[in-house]
Amino acid sequence: MSSSSSSSSVTLKSLTATLGFPFGVAVGGPGDGDNIFAPANAAMQSVVSSQFDLVVAGNIMKMSYLEPTQNGFTFTDADNLVTWAQTNHLLVHGHTLIWHSAYQVPTFMSNAPDGPTLQSMLDNHIQTIVSHFATNFPGEVVSWDVVNEAFNDDGSYRNADPNGSIFYQKLGSAYIENAFKTARAADSNAKLYYNDYNIEWSTTKLNAVLAMVDDFKNRNIPIDGVGFQMHVSLTFPDINTIKNSLAAVAAKGLMVRISELDVAVDQNGSIANETTLDSTTAALQKQRYHDIVKAYLDAVPLAQRGGITVWGLVDGYSWLTGFEGHPEWPLLFNNDLTTKPAFDGVVQALQGL
Ligand code: G3I
Repeated sequence: MSSSSSSSSVTLKSLTATLGFPFGVAVGGPGDGDNIFAPANAAMQSVVSSQFDLVVAGNIMKMSYLEPTQNGFTFTDADNLVTWAQTNHLLVHGHTLIWHSAYQVPTFMSNAPDGPTLQSMLDNHIQTIVSHFATNFPGEVVSWDVVNEAFNDDGSYRNADPNGSIFYQKLGSAYIENAFKTARAADSNAKLYYNDYNIEWSTTKLNAVLAMVDDFKNRNIPIDGVGFQMHVSLTFPDINTIKNSLAAVAAKGLMVRISELDVAVDQNGSIANETTLDSTTAALQKQRYHDIVKAYLDAVPLAQRGGITVWGLVDGYSWLTGFEGHPEWPLLFNNDLTTKPAFDGVVQALQGL
């Protein structure tokens, strides 16, 4: 059965124009299967530029991509992406200045002999990268994930291995506030976000993030918003939980982004042998996307909407296939770049339907 949508030619960006926030998409660059600059993927470029307001680099603006060796900054691929975005009237959200995740951390940082050395490496990393884009592309990189995934699901700071943070181990939580201060000093206009997963359902984890936000505000540490990665499934978490979590951040007066949205349809592997998304599941996914976008519109006041970004363009290149070991069909577009029912669900929610 086909999961193609019969939707009209309405575009996401035509709808967000009146809603006051950008609708974005994570795109691939060199090294990624969905590299939009690969000749085979050229058709992705017109879909991205005609549908979306903003792009995020799925990988090529992470730590080890931009500074693989100490002070050996490699901006070429990221500059090409930002130039392309600027030419096509798309904004850019920077992802991500600090992330503990294994191979994203440059070896020279992992090998830093002591805390002060590591802190100065982080300061230099953030200062150089943020000012590079602010200087060369003024107003183009409108926001940054300053720190990504610093908390465990139990609300403690990510510390011990496995999946630990070398940054916390060497610096304690101070590396987080230092990162925000350095980013703000390098670009006073870009919005600065803390970004994490599972905070749309784990009250414990969300409360830890909110406590950090309160502490930052009390001590005048700059932070503009919180990004909810929102890697969710068809049924979990329930929509009221999502809405309440978004509202809790909005109640702090912060900007709220849905930063990496995707909706996995097959987390127990029950339809893993299917080669296309069946129409029943596609319809459930359409409703789910609709409900999440509506929850965002309901829970976040216009002035606090940092936007919604989906984590990839077409299903076939979603990170979830490798992560789950089978297809999840989690995105808005089929591999042939036709829209899915999920796309219509988003459109309808943006239309207030
Ligand atoms: O670049 C190499 C390539 O040379 C090699 O041939 C290929 C073979 O596996 O691997 C390529 O690297 C992959 C890289 O993506 C680039 O495509 C890595 O193996 C792969 O692990 C990496 O996955 C990325 C993952 O972050 C880890 O960095 C995903 O594409 C990306 O979607 C995912 O995004 C993260 C967010 O940054 C943070 N939140 C969670 C989200 C999903 O994990």
